Amino acid sequence: MTTSPSTPSLPAPGVAPWTLFSRVVSGSEVEQPAAGEWENEAAPPDLSGTVLRACYELVRRLGCGGMGEVYEARFLASGQAVAVKILFGRYAAQEEFLVRFRRELQVLEAIRHPNVVRVRDFDRTSDGRPFMVMELIEGVDLARHVAQRGRLPIAEVIEIGRQLCDALACLHARGVIHRDITPRNVLVEGEGRDVKVKLIDLGVCKATAEWYAEARPYMTPPGRRLRTRAGMILGTPGYTAPEAIDHPPAPQHDVYSLGVVLFEAATGRRLPRVWAYAIPERVDASTLGLDRHVWRTLLKAIEPCPEARYASATAMAEALEDLQLVVGDSTENAAAEGDSRRGSGVPRSKVTARAAARPQDRWVKLVVALLVIHAIADLTHRLRVRDDAVMSNMTAGANPAVSSSTHGLSEIEGAAAECGASSSCASDT
Ligand SMILES: Nc1ncnc2c1ncn2[C@@H]1O[C@H](COP(=O)(O)OP(=O)(O)O)[C@@H](O)[C@H]1O
Ligand SMILES: [Mg+2]
Repeated sequence: MTTSPSTPSLPAPGVAPWTLFSRVVSGSEVEQPAAGEWENEAAPPDLSGTVLRACYELVRRLGCGGMGEVYEARFLASGQAVAVKILFGRYAAQEEFLVRFRRELQVLEAIRHPNVVRVRDFDRTSDGRPFMVMELIEGVDLARHVAQRGRLPIAEVIEIGRQLCDALACLHARGVIHRDITPRNVLVEGEGRDVKVKLIDLGVCKATAEWYAEARPYMTPPGRRLRTRAGMILGTPGYTAPEAIDHPPAPQHDVYSLGVVLFEAATGRRLPRVWAYAIPERVDASTLGLDRHVWRTLLKAIEPCPEARYASATAMAEALEDLQLVVGDSTENAAAEGDSRRGSGVPRSKVTARAAARPQDRWVKLVVALLVIHAIADLTHRLRVRDDAVMSNMTAGANPAVSSSTHGLSEIEGAAAECGASSSCASDT
């Protein structure tokens, strides 16, 4: 059984974690992702219509998060549509939040990645609230995307996962851990294999080297964000890796969160809160309506034990690409066992190119194997023919060519039968 190293609370005595898990995932108690679930604070007044720094006119509010509110805005000089994120007024005087807001800006400025939102400006409102101007991403966040469409086709889930792995690998390569990968922080445009995702909200990201144990984090009530004792946001319950609560930030924390996000997209269900205490090995993929290959790939991301997880976002990306080869263009999440349809989509990343090369490798291996088998069969046949010819000459003196070839064929068949019998014996033992 795999358990979390730090377990703030355990299931009630006598209730097997797995029983609880089965009940939660298969029964009516399934929690559905709901838009706005993580918005615990009262929304501040809507600033639509306000012009910031005589440059950006706020058009409409797109959303509120844990740290600030985001507006669609218009860059007055060119009319270009942009997104403006403004720190909540109540945090504008708190040094820790200012540091986080500025760090988000700095990381976004440093990262140039197609799946990470781009930032283009930074300033303060007339009442001193910092704001940053970003590219406007059309589309909706992943929570809403799933709420609108239900569980997503597996090919789409894999594509979303691959793009996010790519983005995370880029962040991790610079020593930055996102720490708040949730469906609300993933924006989605399009669907199916053409889906395009962008990672937003690096408000709680942390450079691993920066981590300090100034305050042991503690759990806030369910549905609220995790905060450090200093009141700083740490992540979102249900998505944060079990060990992240008292360990330095690590790439595997983001891998876990991404695994939970993909699990929800593939099943349309929330991962039960008892997950960290469940027995993942015993989960039956069919209970979740998932193909066993899909489940195995997802499970390795959401293993409660970090050592059992993918070691990196890159490793997870490779696993997703392998999975894509297995499920192909299937729109079913619970594809038939042994389904080996191959994807026909155009590979997009260099890792995809690696994966795309594999079918060719397999064909080469198959052809070589067939040639070897043919050569062995031919050699055996020739030896039998020769032996039979010798035997025929020694006994009846019949036409060696005819009789030897006939006997040789049947003996090869007999030998093959014996071979089959002995190999099945061998496999039985
Ligand atoms: N660049 C953007 N384009 C479009 N919508 C955005 C953009 N950035 C954020 N949003 C919307 O605003 C919401 C909150 O943004 P986020 O950066 O997550 O804020 P917080 O740090 O407060 O959680 C997001 O869930 C999303 O709906
Ligand atoms: Mg957010």
